[in-house]
Amino acid sequence: MSKRNLVVVGTQWGDEGKGKIVDLLTDRVAAVVRFQGGHNAGHTLVIDGKKTVLHLIPSGILREHVECFIGNGVVLAPDALKKEVEQLELTGLSVKSRLKISEACPLILDYHVALDQARERARGDLAIGTTGRGIGPAYEDKVARRGLRAGDLKNLPKMKNILAETVDYHNFMLQNYYKVEPISFEAVWEKCQAYADLIVPMLADVPSLIDGYNREGKSLLFEGAQGTLLDIDHGTYPYVTSSNTTAGGATSGAGIGPCQLDYVLGITKAYATRVGGGPFPTELVYSVAEDSGDAIGKQLGERGREFGATTGRQRRCGWFDAVALRRSAQVNGLTGMCLTKLDVMDELVEIKVCTAYEYQGKTINFPPASADEYDLCQPVYETLPGWQSSTVGIECWDDLPEQAKAYIHYLEKQVGVPVSILSTGPDRAETLILQDVFA
Ligand code: IMP
Repeated sequence: MSKRNLVVVGTQWGDEGKGKIVDLLTDRVAAVVRFQGGHNAGHTLVIDGKKTVLHLIPSGILREHVECFIGNGVVLAPDALKKEVEQLELTGLSVKSRLKISEACPLILDYHVALDQARERARGDLAIGTTGRGIGPAYEDKVARRGLRAGDLKNLPKMKNILAETVDYHNFMLQNYYKVEPISFEAVWEKCQAYADLIVPMLADVPSLIDGYNREGKSLLFEGAQGTLLDIDHGTYPYVTSSNTTAGGATSGAGIGPCQLDYVLGITKAYATRVGGGPFPTELVYSVAEDSGDAIGKQLGERGREFGATTGRQRRCGWFDAVALRRSAQVNGLTGMCLTKLDVMDELVEIKVCTAYEYQGKTINFPPASADEYDLCQPVYETLPGWQSSTVGIECWDDLPEQAKAYIHYLEKQVGVPVSILSTGPDRAETLILQDVFA
């Protein structure tokens, strides 16, 4: 039987280069489905040198023959959606006709953003380093069963009453606990009519659409956002995002049974990066603002252009962490990895790989559950020789330098998962397919 349904997840702290790979593989599917996160994501796509950055809309949107679904697990910011739809349509793409949104998507409204930002300020040095886009508070409202959802836009008079109560509820916290300005109900409400005009025509029964394609034997691609180590349950809690970024999130966040998923592809950067706060044992600390710190950290950041696609923040860079990757392989049930940004390491003389952690006098091969314990872990490194030649755009395995091949095989062995795709540059074309993930 051919592999039909593919889940694409980030295996590290996000920014592994998922957008490019989703776009590439989308050519083979009927629809691309986002199942978690929101416009905190930043998926960069480069096609024939032209760059597009998507935050909310599935990366499949650039292929006109593909439908795009936003599943119930996604928190939907109507303002961000409007901006993205307009930007894409200006380039001549048909978006509204191909984009279907689940009625069960929680809405991100102004008070979520205000709460996210007030809370981060209040945490001071312990700030999570969120994107400040209201993601966490919107998920909190969902779980507290007081959230407004995309489907509520179908009945504005009813929504108005719930909105009034919810604004009141959150304003109490904003004013009395965080001592910041309240949110104006009128201002939020005024925008809801426009939100309804945009979103209601795109509302759809996403599980039924997915089921329909499954019955027709067509392939689907489930596009994860952020990365496994930012998963609310499996990540470096509390320095995580508020959703399940792992493969299981695709089932609950889109509405498909686990047995209908055929291949889990883990997008994995050849080194490691993290944006925001939280543990990062292999970090090579370097500050762009102060131009001081580790020279290799600086080199990886500069060559890899490691600045967030959503917030523009400097990404922290470090060596590949096989301990963290083993956890990713476990909790996602990875079938294969796609290794990205290998070319960023082209000039390094030596390359380190973290193969274990020293934790309270013991050597451990899997990461601990919480950030506090993580902070006590010291990386144990193995050093490999660099290849010191360009791998940019290489199209055939045999053309790779021997040391690069050895590095890839070493990572496969450490993680216990084969590399099925190798990305050798940002462009769609700069990709080496080692195994057909749909075969
Ligand atoms: P939030 O998702 O905005 O609540 O932020 C929680 C954590 O996830 C912070 O460390 C963010 O920097 C991180 N984060 C959220 N989205 C992304 C992403 O798309 N790439 C990398 N990190 C992200």
